[in-house]
Formats: sequence, C-alpha cells, structure tokens
Amino acid sequence: MTRHFGDVDDLSPADLDAVLDTAADRKVRLDRGTARTPLSDRTLVMLFEKPSTRTRVSFETGMTQLGGHAIFLGPDDVGLGEREPIRDLSRSISGYADAVMVRLFEHADLIEFCEHATVPVVNGLTDRAHPCQTLADLLTIREHLGFDASIAWIGDANNVARSLAVGCGMVGLDLTLCTPEAYAIDEETLARARSFDGDVEVTGNPREAAAGADAVYTDAWVSMGEESEREEKLEAFREGEFQVNDELLDSGSRVLHCLPAHRGEEITDEVIESDRSLVWEQAENRLHAQKGLLTFLLDAD
Ligand code: CP
Ligand code: NVA
Repeated sequence: MTRHFGDVDDLSPADLDAVLDTAADRKVRLDRGTARTPLSDRTLVMLFEKPSTRTRVSFETGMTQLGGHAIFLGPDDVGLGEREPIRDLSRSISGYADAVMVRLFEHADLIEFCEHATVPVVNGLTDRAHPCQTLADLLTIREHLGFDASIAWIGDANNVARSLAVGCGMVGLDLTLCTPEAYAIDEETLARARSFDGDVEVTGNPREAAAGADAVYTDAWVSMGEESEREEKLEAFREGEFQVNDELLDSGSRVLHCLPAHRGEEITDEVIESDRSLVWEQAENRLHAQKGLLTFLLDAD
C-alpha cells in the first residue's frame, strides 16, 4: 500500500523514531563527507499553492543530495483546481514521479490528492497540519534538549501547533499549548495528541506556560490564507500578551520558531537574535529530517 505523510501520526511512534534516527545519521554523514545517494534516478514533484522558502529549498536540496531530482510546480504552472480537478493532477503526476510534496490551502484537497495518488504524498503544509516542520522540530529538540524537556507553545493553535502537539505526544514530550480561548486547539487534534505517551496540556496564560519551560515555541499569529482575520487576531494576541519577549521568558528557556517570523508581532528581534534562539538550527534541520522521511517512504537506504 502507498504510504502518505499527511500528518505526523501517519507514522507509528516506532517509524517516527526511525525517521529521526535516519535524519540524524544523514546529517552526520553530510558533515563528514560520507553521504550516500540512495535516490538516484528518483524524482520528487513539489506542488505549491502558496509561498515557501524553507520547504521548497530543503526538499529540492535534499533530493539533490540523495542523488535524485526535484521538479517545482507553482500555482500558475498547473492552475490547481481550476485548469483540471485535483484528482486528475494527482493521477497524472503519479505516473511520472516517485513521490509528491504538496503545499495546499485546504487540508481536504490534500486528502483528495492522496486518495488518487499511487506514489507517496508528503504534506508540505495545509491549513490543518505541517508535519515536515514537526520532524525538524523534534530533531532539534532531541539534539539540544532531549525528549525529557518541557516545551511551551505560546501563540495560535495553527497548523504548526497541531502537528507539533501530535508529534510531542508520540515521542513522550511534555507540551503546554497556550492560546487565547478563541484560537485554542480543536478537541479532535488534542485527543490524538493525548492518545500517546506525552503530556499535552492547555492553558490561556502565557506567563504560566513560559515559567520553567525548557523551550518556548511560537509562530505567526496570522497564517497564510487568514489575511482577512488579521486585525481581529492581532488584537486578541496583543491583548492577551502572547508576544515572546525577554520579559516573558525564563532565563534558561530556549526559543523555537518555524519561520517566517513576524518580528514585533509574535516574537521580538532581541529574542530571535539572542543566544536562546534555536531557529536557525530548526530551519537547517528541515533538510536532514526530510531526507530521513523521503528515504523512509521510498524504502531506500
Ligand atoms: N517553516 C516553513 O515551512 O517555511 P516556508 O513557509 O518558508 O517553507
Ligand atoms: N502557520 C504558518 C506557517 C508557515 C510555515 C502559515 O500557515 O502561514
């Protein structure tokens, strides 16, 4: 059966561990100059409905380093859902590529794409989930803090937060999700996150969440596709004092952000540029984590 990666729990906890181990191994090999090229002659198609820097560049670079090739398709190239139905795109691309990475607005479109694909489909971000980001986040947390750490998410319970919650649950991490009540995590995702070993708690108080956290993670208050809600959301997050700044953080807390950051909104310049910040390691780890994922899904060593 074709394996897709729509969200983190499409992997079992053991498979997630294996992907992280492979990612760590490929990172070391790249550094030592002993990297292998198990995806020679394989092609990844990358279909983007919205902008990207890290996801596009890390997947494309990753395929090059693994000996394969990546093809970029932007919204104007395929006229997603307009020139032809998603199912026709999915079936046609499956006939050429060995795997597909898609970044779509609607999670329902990802599900439809997966249903008709005969090669692995990787979710490169939808409105509901960002599982590739979670792989890099877990790799970064494991490297710098270990899985005994406590993580606080302070911000919107968006795509990045939802996948992170499930991923933390799967590896046994303690996560406190702190959001304004109106932007809290949905019950279905929370139940999935809590069905594993980790302790996933929710609160509305940023100070309480930040106190004692080994790392504080935040992301944009307004995600791509939510531009019409911008003023309303900014007001809620500002009023609730959700900005990650020096005053909020404990002295020992590290800081995570998936990027792109909106400095002056969810995070300050000082914090992202400080020694606390792990965001550049996180961004680099997208490359290593996705190489682990691609070789896992394509059963290549
Ligand atoms: N974090 C992340 O997915 O970045 P891009 O939107 O630049 O791909
Ligand atoms: N939550 C952000 C993440 C971008 C990588 C968005 O969806 O725009």
